[in-house]
Amino acid sequence: MTSRSCLTVILAAGEGTRMKSALPKVLHTIAGLPIVAHVAKAVHGAGGSDIALVVGKGAEQVEAAVRAIASNVTVHEQTERLGTAHAVLAAREAIARGYDDVLVVFGDTPLVETAALDQARAKLKDGADVVVMGFRPAVPNGYGRLIERDGRLIGIREEKDASAEERLIGLCNGGLMALRGDSALALLDKITNNNANGEYYLTDVVEIANQAGKSVIAIEISPDNVIGINTRAELAEAEAIWQGRKRRDMMLAGVTMHAPETVFFSHDTLVEADAVLEPNIVFGPGVSVGTGAVIHAFCYFEGAKIGPNANVGPFARLRPGADLAEKSKVGNFVEIKNAKVGVGAKVNHLTYIGDAIVGTGANIGAGAITCNYDGYNKHLTEIGANVFVGSNTSLVAPVSIGDNAYVASGSVITENVPADALAFGRARQEIKEGRAVQLRARYAAQKLAKKAD
Ligand code: UD1
Ligand code: MG
Repeated sequence: MTSRSCLTVILAAGEGTRMKSALPKVLHTIAGLPIVAHVAKAVHGAGGSDIALVVGKGAEQVEAAVRAIASNVTVHEQTERLGTAHAVLAAREAIARGYDDVLVVFGDTPLVETAALDQARAKLKDGADVVVMGFRPAVPNGYGRLIERDGRLIGIREEKDASAEERLIGLCNGGLMALRGDSALALLDKITNNNANGEYYLTDVVEIANQAGKSVIAIEISPDNVIGINTRAELAEAEAIWQGRKRRDMMLAGVTMHAPETVFFSHDTLVEADAVLEPNIVFGPGVSVGTGAVIHAFCYFEGAKIGPNANVGPFARLRPGADLAEKSKVGNFVEIKNAKVGVGAKVNHLTYIGDAIVGTGANIGAGAITCNYDGYNKHLTEIGANVFVGSNTSLVAPVSIGDNAYVASGSVITENVPADALAFGRARQEIKEGRAVQLRARYAAQKLAKKAD
């Protein structure tokens, strides 16, 4: 990482009308994080965490999304949308503070990677004045072509203005740029709106810088980096690319995945090496999985911590505050919310545990339920170490079960159970010898009488 100072200008004043949304475009999410925050994360990684955010009117939420990632953010309102160069100049004050490097990125291009920005900054360090980030799309139609001569970039030709020969050029403009801070403003100020659209094009800086004898170059970055989001269809495509990258990173870091294409991560999911993820798992925000844990198929998690060597699913739901200790087991059709499950404890089948503490080695039987809510307030259930809770038990909170206690199945437990006690909370069973025969005879006679009517 270089010690050069860096300002990043994020352009996000576009209206995003093609999203057909009440939400500003850049606040739509990929992996649960607003797309503009993905951009901020990438620039933060590249040392460009002084951010000048260029927004349209009423963009407090956009600002908040960026501030969640970087602390040094100034906001610049572009009241009229007169083009990308005009947008950069809305941040004039920030640029004028004097930085070694100025990065210009788009708020709607969320897949830009730190490595690409690092590469551009390295070229500035090596003496370039303007660095344009180019890419080779499968089909270059519609993009501006990068015209190079002797390793220098001499112009960007929009497709409609390009000659047949220029159209054969595969290297296109990705839109992102890096500029040397001490000459950036002077160059940008020379850009005019003398073109068919009457806009101030940032791309014009290339010819202007060449005329001023500056060093202008293009670098090639991977096409994913410059995918812009304009519609919900493009948002979904970007999500798929993001998920693909994350799955690959996870596997390369030692996570086993049987069908990676069916596992969906959040931007902040943490999974340690040697965890196993079976097919069809959805991670909401705030989930971590410890080493050696096995997550069986068809699970949905959010705000949950899964300890080392825990065993979860299939079909488990972990809600915020679920905290599963080492070697614990949460089985099928089990929901856990705001509850600690102790080391080696088992909650194997058809159970709801909410607002609870389950002790080390406890065993919670099938269909046991914590009745944590009385319609007004939530209450705590405490289950001690090595407690056995029989199947189909209701634990009516607030209630506590002492260590090593044993709760008979079918119980409704409303009072605290001391350690080592056996608790029954159900009607005593009665046996009536031979009564089944009598009962059947009576019902059969009733049925016959009805038919005769
Ligand atoms: C831009 C490039 C084009 C490149 C393409 C890649 C220019 C002139 N053109 O075109 O060469 O191939 O990106 O995707 O730079 N914005 C503002 N204020 C404005 C105008 C734009 O904030 O006045 C913001 C937009 O919200 C968006 C970004 O700048 O985030 C890019 O603008 P957009 O209109 O999408 O530029 P393109 O036409 O895609
Ligand atoms: Mg665009």
